[in-house]
Amino acid sequence: TPLFAPRHFLSIDDLTSSELGNLVNRAKKAKHAIRAGQTLPSLKGVLAGKTIAMMFSKRSTRTRVSTEAAAVYLGGHPMFLGKDDIQLGVNESLRDTSKVISSMVSCVVARVGHHSDIVQLSKTSTVPVINALSDSFHPLQAVTDILTIIECFPDPKGIKLAWVGDANNVLYDLAIACAKCGINISIATPSVYPVPSDMLQLARNAAHFSGSSIETTHEPEATVKGAHIIVTDTWVSMGQESEKALRLKQFAGFQVSSDLAARGGANKDWRFMHCLPRKPEEVTDEVFYSPRSLVFPEAENRLYAAIAALEAFVVKKGNFGG
Ligand code: CP
Ligand code: NVA
Repeated sequence: TPLFAPRHFLSIDDLTSSELGNLVNRAKKAKHAIRAGQTLPSLKGVLAGKTIAMMFSKRSTRTRVSTEAAAVYLGGHPMFLGKDDIQLGVNESLRDTSKVISSMVSCVVARVGHHSDIVQLSKTSTVPVINALSDSFHPLQAVTDILTIIECFPDPKGIKLAWVGDANNVLYDLAIACAKCGINISIATPSVYPVPSDMLQLARNAAHFSGSSIETTHEPEATVKGAHIIVTDTWVSMGQESEKALRLKQFAGFQVSSDLAARGGANKDWRFMHCLPRKPEEVTDEVFYSPRSLVFPEAENRLYAAIAALEAFVVKKGNFGG
């Protein structure tokens, strides 16, 4: 263990609710400045001379582009290290790789398979490690999603978010984030894929303080009742490709559609979110490309969340209030 252990960002569970609020707020400020063609004075050149290593063992569009663009926006240098670029996994252990890379850079942003890999990486790293997706969590996506939600619902306390789909990484951090913000959550997953009790417990712990309600069902219609936002993700996450045919059968009835929303009695102004990449089976084109859909602003917001996360964990070294 390094003498002065840096603060890492592996899950929304690592944040207090006021820290989450600060991250979202900084992301929002960065967005307004960038949209106006400006740079916030407090962000100008703050990563000058610093390198952000991006160790990605899986494909990525949004996380890669947003992180690289965020590093450049702050004056730093993003160094993308795909799985075929470095010795990791073939000639070198995660532990040794982490020690070596962290000795030369200011932050490691890592996309891994098992969450235990990023935990191990963070234990050996002498610089902050930011989770760019593991099989358990996707914190950068959840910060983005709260920003996207408050753009539509400036005072989100008490609104209802319905998740209809898989029990996965994106859901677990989103549920914790919603619980920290006082957003009520209803989750429908196929009965063969219940939300693991440890993940549910993390969200329930956060909800205990905010007063959010969290319910899990296996019935999409019941879940969308009164929902202000309906969210889903792919039914076949990276690494599950061989289970595709089986999973498509298991998720029958879980496609998000106007018909589902109407049958279930969603709020009349319900909006749709999806972290992307999207496949047609989990949501109809009609919803995905409709004015209800927030998916493209949500994707753009990844940039602002990445800026806020690099500022909080690299520039401010984890001291960002709360
Ligand atoms: N939403 C998300 O993380 O997308 P990528 O896999 O393209 O990074
Ligand atoms: N659940 C998906 C999210 C991709 C951003 C996966 O893990 O592949």
